[in-house]
Amino acid sequence: MSKKFKVGLVGATGVVGEKFIQLLTENNFPIEELRPFASERSLGQKIDAYNCEIQTLKDGCFDGLDMVFFSSGDEISLEWAPKAAAAGAYAIDNSAAFRMNPEHSLVVPEVNSDCLEKMNSAEVIANPNCSTIQLMLPLNALKPFGVSKVRVASYQAASGAGKQGIAELTEQAPNLNLSEHQAGVFTKPLAYNCIPHIGGFNDDDFTSEEFKIMNESKKILSLPDLKISAFTVRIPTLNTHAEAVWVTLDKDVSRDEVIAAFKKQDGLTTFENPREYDTPRDSNGKYNVSVSRIHKDLAEENTWILWVVGDNLLKGAALNGFQIAQKLVQLNKV
Ligand SMILES: NC(=O)c1ccc[n+]([C@@H]2O[C@H](COP(=O)([O-])OP(=O)(O)OC[C@H]3O[C@@H](n4cnc5c(N)ncnc54)[C@H](OP(=O)(O)O)[C@@H]3O)[C@@H](O)[C@H]2O)c1
Repeated sequence: MSKKFKVGLVGATGVVGEKFIQLLTENNFPIEELRPFASERSLGQKIDAYNCEIQTLKDGCFDGLDMVFFSSGDEISLEWAPKAAAAGAYAIDNSAAFRMNPEHSLVVPEVNSDCLEKMNSAEVIANPNCSTIQLMLPLNALKPFGVSKVRVASYQAASGAGKQGIAELTEQAPNLNLSEHQAGVFTKPLAYNCIPHIGGFNDDDFTSEEFKIMNESKKILSLPDLKISAFTVRIPTLNTHAEAVWVTLDKDVSRDEVIAAFKKQDGLTTFENPREYDTPRDSNGKYNVSVSRIHKDLAEENTWILWVVGDNLLKGAALNGFQIAQKLVQLNKV
């Protein structure tokens, strides 16, 4: 009989946590036990698919688990993910707490799963930022041509701010008396608006979301000298992020070569016709990231312009973590 796994899920009632449960069930992941955690507010809530109920975090709560998915924010991961690893469970962490720590791998399985092959015992594995993950697939495909410069502008959905972000947008949207809208989860009202501010500002006047994309991309692609600049914007879509991307290559390559490279990349759907494209609503719920509007820049040499769309709750969060778990199983690490 094939092996079954004992899996922990911290943040099981959040928008990312719910996607983990969906992925485990729809992919028939072999589960012996699911142990879900959330705050005291959710204590006792049932997860019928796995005949279990929400617990709170306490000492010893990870004992006997093979792996634990974390999606409850930086502070909880910082405190509890190392405890999961110490208890012998691989901790797959969706927060930003360990991403840029050189002692921890930051993994997009289609790009750098070699990090997982080298692991000898349970540790904390970081899942990248949602906007970073979707950008990695087209950039990895273009890497053989030498990626020297990247500029990216994002169009990010309300779900990126969790269940409260979705609730704030859906409460505001039906009310056309815009003067009644208040800022809350977002720095300004999001309905009928767009907000160039995701996360906090740093000393260089970039936002933390922009820094995540810039720094995490260099680490995942192993391109420490990559010139990459990001500008992130929250828009009033419910789910699925989009990005306009300018990529400068070392080589002068044809459009056919660029298309062929994208088509070879796992996890990427390529629109060959430059006048066809996906929108966030089209890509919502899909596992693959899509690349479309593929055309050559007229202003800068060897530069390609792309439109990249990906479900931030799936490939941008839970699916990428789930694929890390699948890879650990495939490599017999658990
Ligand atoms: N949303 C995205 O697109 C996205 C993408 C990539 C990464 N992430 C990361 O994933 C994490 C979760 O994001 P989300 O969007 O799913 O947020 P969310 O919808 O707000 O969910 C937060 C989860 O954390 C739980 N939680 C809160 N306090 C807790 C505590 N003291 N102990 C245990 N659990 C607690 C909540 O439980 P209650 O229901 O009981 O409050 C809920 O299950 C964050 O680190 C976020 O940065 C999110």
